Amino acid sequence: MTAARPALLTAAAALALAAGHGGAQAPKDKGDPPLPNEAQVMQVKLKRAQAVLEALAKEDFKTLDESATSLLAISKAAAFLRAYKTEEYEFQARVFQKSAATLAAKAGEKSLDGATLAYLDMTRSCVACHAHFRGRKRD
Ligand code: HEC
Repeated sequence: MTAARPALLTAAAALALAAGHGGAQAPKDKGDPPLPNEAQVMQVKLKRAQAVLEALAKEDFKTLDESATSLLAISKAAAFLRAYKTEEYEFQARVFQKSAATLAAKAGEKSLDGATLAYLDMTRSCVACHAHFRGRKRD
C-alpha cells in the first residue's frame, strides 16, 4: 500500500506535465486523492501520440523528443494505476516504453527514418494492448 503512493504521485505529475503541453483537462476527482484515472491518462497519451505524428511530418525533432519523453513518463507512471494486470498488458506496456525511448533517442540523433519506425512500433503497441483488453473490461 505505502509503496504505491509515490508511483501515483508520479502518475499525477506526469499527466499534469503532459497536459500542460497538450491542453488536456486536468484530472477531476470525485473524492479521495485527485489522481487521474486510466481514461484520462489515455486521452493525454492520444494527444501526445498525435503530436508525434505532426512532429514527424514537420521534421520537428525537438517536439518529437519532448513528446516521446512525455509518453515514456506517462506510460511508466500509468503502469501503477492498473488494478488488474495481465502478462499481455505488461508485455505491451514494455513494448510501448521501449519504442517511446527509441523514438526519443532517434529524435536526438535527428534520424527521421529511425523515429518513424519507432513511432510505428509504438502505435502497434497501442493497438495490440487495446485489442487485448477489448471485451474484457473491468473483471
Ligand atoms: C499497455 C496497454 C496499453 C497501451 C500500450 C496503450 N493503451 Fe490506451 N488503453 C489501455 C486500456 C486498458 C484502456 C481502457 C481504459 C479504461 O477505459 O479504463 C485504454 C484506453 C484508451 C483510450 C480511450 C480512453 C477513454 O476515453 O475511454 C484511448 C484514446 C487510448 N487508450 C489511447 C492510447 C494511445 C494513443 C496509445 C498509444 C500511443 C495507447 N492508448 C496505448 C491500455 C493501453
